[in-house]
Parts: sequence; structure tokens; C-alpha cells
Amino acid sequence: MPLSVQSESIGLTNGSDPFAAHGQTLHPNIRGGNVQAQTRCAKSIAYSGSLDMYPHHDLTPVIGREYMDLQVTDLLMGLDRDRQIRDLAVNISQRGVVFLRDQDISPTQMRELCESLSVLAGCPESSGLHIHPLTEEGSELGDQISVISSEKQKRGGGLTHQLSDTSRYASVGWHTDISFERVPSDYAMLKIHTLPPTGGDTLWASGCDVYDRLSPAMQVFLEGLTATHDAKFFLEESSRLGHPLRKGQRGSPLNYGDSLTATHPVIRTNPVTGWKSVYVNKGFTKRINGVTKDESDLLLNYLFNLVIQNHDLQVRWKWSKDALAIWDNRSQLHCATYDYIEARAGDRVAALGEAPYLDVNSKSRREALNQATTRF
Ligand SMILES: [Fe+2]
Repeated sequence: MPLSVQSESIGLTNGSDPFAAHGQTLHPNIRGGNVQAQTRCAKSIAYSGSLDMYPHHDLTPVIGREYMDLQVTDLLMGLDRDRQIRDLAVNISQRGVVFLRDQDISPTQMRELCESLSVLAGCPESSGLHIHPLTEEGSELGDQISVISSEKQKRGGGLTHQLSDTSRYASVGWHTDISFERVPSDYAMLKIHTLPPTGGDTLWASGCDVYDRLSPAMQVFLEGLTATHDAKFFLEESSRLGHPLRKGQRGSPLNYGDSLTATHPVIRTNPVTGWKSVYVNKGFTKRINGVTKDESDLLLNYLFNLVIQNHDLQVRWKWSKDALAIWDNRSQLHCATYDYIEARAGDRVAALGEAPYLDVNSKSRREALNQATTRF
């Protein structure tokens, strides 16, 4: 059992959907979640200072931190392993995304680090590493490594729909990883080992800061709503790529089958920071429930625009060979940039966290950090 993660689980609704008629609310302040996939964080986790010896700088006021002179493999093999990895998890959750250049970590070690970050930060016992529904059986690096490759992309992979004619806006790809799963990702990491001379940057955005830009009235309104996340386009993609969709358990007993659809609260609480964030994304969120389609379209477009048009809640990362990015998918979104023609490739691992829930008594990021918020 991790040192600072308490084993007591917070009370969640007795059902997968807090707003469904069959859902019995155990704690009135908690909406959403699932009793089979609850966080083990009884309260937010404090940073203990174990990474203070490593120089770092923040890339923007809101999001992004880069550590220098730190090999994450040293943490994996260090004497203070669990405390340092938990502190790294807290840093990732608070800063949204952490970057490290020139990493010697192997795909196998990436799996170990990602799983450790998730476990030490209190993920449910039922959550492991995700197996992407499009990952081929018997793939070279194992089920839990997604190979990110420009060659695969050319065959029509992922959210950019490069073989379709839906959009040519670069911002069409803003998403949160695998939010179509009932138990989506907490931490994920990507290491790029092959990259073009220029281009291929990745952007991340803070869903916490999106929440902070809403009026109190809109915050309260959205806290009462759920949204449907849907990745059915993977079914078509799986047949185009010529290998079957992974229908068995994908890292959690709750993630299986080919519905590729989940309902989550529109506003969720990150158990590690205790901060609220907006949890909808352009890639997978199709519908806000309980309102008309017109209202849903209006609200989703407004929330997507808050992500896309506010470059002061984004960070843009220029990759170098063997750079590593580790982010918290619960409260951040990200978007790739397809502005290159040369080969670009890397390895991604995603761990599963808790079934998303909202603790209505949790705070916004700016509120927790005592930063000024806009007055209304
Ligand atoms: Fe992604």
C-alpha cells in the first residue's frame, strides 16, 4: 500500500451513471463514478519534496513543466522509488504535463513507470494499463504499447480522419485519450524516437483552466450534466486496417466489447489535485445529455472553443529525439500537429484511473491556488 494514499475509498454512486434513475447516491456531494472503479485517494495528495534536487522550469503559468538532468529510469531503480514516483505523479497532475528530454527509458520500462504512477497515485485496484481497441493481437512491443507512427497515420489512423473529408482544421484533433471507455486514462506517456527535421509538435491544454473561465452560473449548470463519449469510428477503422477490434477487457473489467461508448460527468474532479476540470473533448464527446441536440451542440462548441482559442491555457512542445512527455488525461487535452511529410514515430502507454466522478465540494484550480478569477 502506498505511503500517502489512504485505502479508504470515497463514497460514489451505486451505479455507473449518477443521473440515471437506478443510481443510488451514497454521498450527496459525489456525482458519477462507479463502485467497481473508485479512486483510493481519500483526499488530494501533497508533494513531499523528493524531486527538489532536479532543476526544472514551468513552460507557461498555467500548464507544463520541464525537468532537466533527470532520467526517469533512475527513479524506477532508486532507493526512494515509491516516494519519488508518487511526487512525479503529483507534479504531472498539478502542472498537467511534464516533459523530459534525452530519456533512455525502454518500452518495457515505460509500462512499469506508467503503471507505478497510476498505482502510487491511488488508482482503483481493478485498473491496469490500457489495451487500445485498435492494437493488433501479438503486436511487436506488447498489447499495452500503442505505436504512434506517421506510416500508420497515412493509412487513416486516429482522430485526424485523414482519409475522410470532415475537417481540415488542425484543431480537429483536440482530445483526451480514450474517454470512450467507462474507465478512462489517468496518466499517459509518449516517447518520440523518430522525428522530422521540423514539425510534429504536440499541444496540451488545461481542462482545469477551461473550468476557471466559466461563470459561476455556468459552472453550476454544467456540474449537473453528463455527456456521451463515442469512438464508434474505430469500428470502421479496424476493418479498414484489416485487424479485429479488441473486444476483451481493455485494462479494466468495465472496459470491454464494441460499444466504445461511455457516459461521464461534464465536470469531473481529479482525485490527486482535488481540482475540478471540464471533461469533454472534440475527439470523442458527441452529446451533452438531458438537453436538446441544439443546446448540446451550442454548449459543446462553446467548451471546445474555450480549449482551442485560448492559447494561454495551452503549451506547445517541440519534440527532440527520445524526449518523453507524461500527462494527466483526467484534466488535460492534447492535439497532434500533422505539418510534416517525413517519418515520425514513438511509443505511447496509457494507464487507467478511476471511473470519472464529480465531488461538488472540490475546488477549481485557481481557487485552490488562491489565484484571481474573473469577476462576474
Ligand atoms: Fe492522444
